[in-house]
This record gives sequence, C-alpha cells and structure tokens, in this order.
Amino acid sequence: MRLLPNLDRAASIEDLRVLAKRRIPRFAFDLVDGGAESERNLRRNLEAFAEIELTPRYMVDVGAIDTRATLFGQTFDAPFGMAPIGMLNAFWPDADLSLARICKRHNIPYVASSAASTTLERLAEAAEGNGWFQLYVSGDPDVTESLIARAEAAQYPVMMVTADVPAAGKRDRDIRNQLAVPFRFTPEVVMQLMARPLWSLASLRHGKPNIANYADLLQSATSYADVQKTLITPRFTWQDLGRLRDRWRGKLLVKGILHPDDALRCAELGCDGIVVSNHGGRQVDFGPPTIAVLPSIAEALGGRVKILLDSGVRRGADLIRAKALGAHFALTGRALAFGVGAGGTAGADRAVEILTLELHRAMGQLGATSIADIGNAAITPRKQSTAIASDPAKYRDLPSSSISS
Ligand SMILES: Cc1cc2nc3c(=O)[nH]c(=O)nc-3n(C[C@H](O)[C@H](O)[C@H](O)COP(=O)(O)O)c2cc1C
Repeated sequence: MRLLPNLDRAASIEDLRVLAKRRIPRFAFDLVDGGAESERNLRRNLEAFAEIELTPRYMVDVGAIDTRATLFGQTFDAPFGMAPIGMLNAFWPDADLSLARICKRHNIPYVASSAASTTLERLAEAAEGNGWFQLYVSGDPDVTESLIARAEAAQYPVMMVTADVPAAGKRDRDIRNQLAVPFRFTPEVVMQLMARPLWSLASLRHGKPNIANYADLLQSATSYADVQKTLITPRFTWQDLGRLRDRWRGKLLVKGILHPDDALRCAELGCDGIVVSNHGGRQVDFGPPTIAVLPSIAEALGGRVKILLDSGVRRGADLIRAKALGAHFALTGRALAFGVGAGGTAGADRAVEILTLELHRAMGQLGATSIADIGNAAITPRKQSTAIASDPAKYRDLPSSSISS
C-alpha cells in the first residue's frame, strides 16, 4: 500500500476529493464534504457553474498569459484564495497551517476562520502577509471584541464578517454520523478509524483538534448548543454591522450575501466589498447557487464595492465564469481542503496548481491574456446554448455574428 497517493495522477479537484475520501474516516470526510439537509443547494452550486458555457475565441496572441489580480492594493498571482474553514484539522492534521503556507507560496490570499483549529496569530505568521481574518460575531460582545483586537494586533489587513449564520446549518450527514460535543467513540466511529489507520495515527500524534481561538472558553462546553452560543448569534443586525465598520480600520468584507438589496446596504454602510456566498451549500438547502444571483448583485452595485464569490468553484473555468458575470475575485473552500485531505501540504499545493493550470489553459482558449480581458462577452448566450443542445441542426443556421457576443 502506498503511504502517499501519487498526486501527479490527480487531474482534477474531483480526483483529489476521491483520494481524500480514501484516506479519511467517513465522519470526518462528511464534515467537510457535506451540506445542508438534502444537499440540493450544494449540488446546484456545481451544476449552475457547469451550465454556463464560454465561447472560445482564436487567432489572438496568447503566448503570454497573466493570471494576476489586484485586490485592496495587493497583487495576487491568481484571482482566487482560500475561503475560511473552521475545524479543518479534524479533516487532516495541521491542515490550517499547510494551507496558509501553500497560499503564501502561490501568492494567493488565505482566510483564517474564527473557528479554525489553529490560532489566528499562528495563521497570520504562516500566511506571511497573505492572510485575511474571518469574523464570526459572537452572542457575547466581549468575545467579538477580543477577536477583533487580536486580528488587529496580528495585522490582518482585511476582515471578513460572516453574515449567513443566524444559526448553524442543519447538516444531515453530521446528524447521521452522530457528531457530538464532546466527541464520542461510538462503535461505528471506532470501525471507521480502524479502516483508516494512517489518518488515525496522524491524528493521534497531533492530538484532538479544537477551535483554537476560543480554546479556554470552550473547555467547559458539553454540547453543540454551548459551542454555537460562543461562536455565533441570531441577533447580528445591520446596526451591528455599522458599528463593526466604525471599529475596524482595515478593509471590511461581508460574507454570505445573496440579495442585491443586502449588497447595496453593505456598500451604503461603507464596507469595502461583499462575498456572494451560500457557505458552500451548508446553511440552507432551498437557496440559489451563487453564480445565478451574481449578475443581479453586480448590476445593483454598479462597481461601488468589490465583489468576491464562492460556493462551488472546482474548475479553473469557474473562476472565468465568476469574473465574466461580475466578480472581481473568487474564493474556494472545499477545492483546497480536498487537496490537503488527499496529500497534506503536497496535496494542497497540487490543488492550487490544478486550478491555476486550468485557468491558464481556459484563458488561452478564450483569447484572454489577462484577467481584466475576461468580460461578459465570454459567456455563450443562453438561448444559443440551449438551442444547440436541443437541436444541433439549428446551430448551423445561426448567423455567425450571434455565435459569440
Ligand atoms: C467544513 C467547512 C467549514 C467552514 N467553516 C467556515 C467558517 O468557519 N467560517 C465561514 O465564514 N465559512 C465557513 N465555511 C464556508 C466557506 O468559507 C466557503 O463559503 C465555502 O466552503 C465555499 O464553498 P465551496 O466549499 O464549494 O468552495 C466552511 C465550509 C466548510 C466546507
């Protein structure tokens, strides 16, 4: 048996997901892979991206392609970064630090979660200037203030406050797996651990992962409800966001925006940007995929603040789809998490490499030599693409000017 999978044979993020699934016990794999309820929203995130077709354009000199993107005064090597993920060390030991370092190595942003298994100070150090901080607003104002003060002291230039958590999502896989606080070794868990000895040994060596930023506070937690009360609140309002804006001197982003009116209100309150996100389909099952609501949000904002997008990015072409429909930048959670699950730091590296290689190739096929070149014209008009799918003969009759707009 190979101890490390051959990562060069992983051609796609989905390949890395499959490798991760082979290495990680089910309860821990499901924690990351799963979504809310029937996982319709999770699936729709992926389908909605795939449904958007891009029309290639040729005979453009694409000998030199530049994938760099500048955001908040910093130039990154690619137009995406790592989304905040809590408790990721439960997926693979030291996943947080591996990802922070890999993001730095590839010069892309790394967003440290409030709920990370590593402290925000250590993650700021590992990301070496490429780190941003994600804030969960606690029910206890002192807890929130302490996180903000620590993020400030660690010199994070960007804070991203997550708005889509009036409650934790209902994740049916976790309920079926009987994930509980404190963690219980049920016979089923023991069987799953025995089936994944490498993971079990590595996890044993690294100790039980916790939510490091609140380690002291959560020591006495005896249930999920206790944990949730410390981490999040159902009472976070626009007034609180206004106060946060006054309090945080760096760039402020609001994550979890799905409605144009909410996006506008963030801009009116002086936020620097929004993240169009449905938390990777982990909060509600009935919501829309982010790529579907992006155009109306971009239109409403009219360029007033920066738009980032996440939820469902698995291919380099998804980054192009997001840019073409109005996003300035994208984040991905699971794509890089699957990488780290498949092969630790080397796997995270492979995940970033796959996405950037795919992006590079797709840009060449679209005749785009820079990210700024990617605009709405890359999108195949919907009517045309459905006509082709339903009746290929019709395609031949289309006037040539309507093949690409
Ligand atoms: C296991 C897991 C934990 C997450 N934890 C957080 C978190 O602590 N804070 C947060 O704002 N978002 C969190 N998210 C949401 C991600 O930041 C991001 O919105 C989502 O992963 C994007 O979807 P994708 O995984 O399809 O890329 C989490 C997502 C996953 C999969």
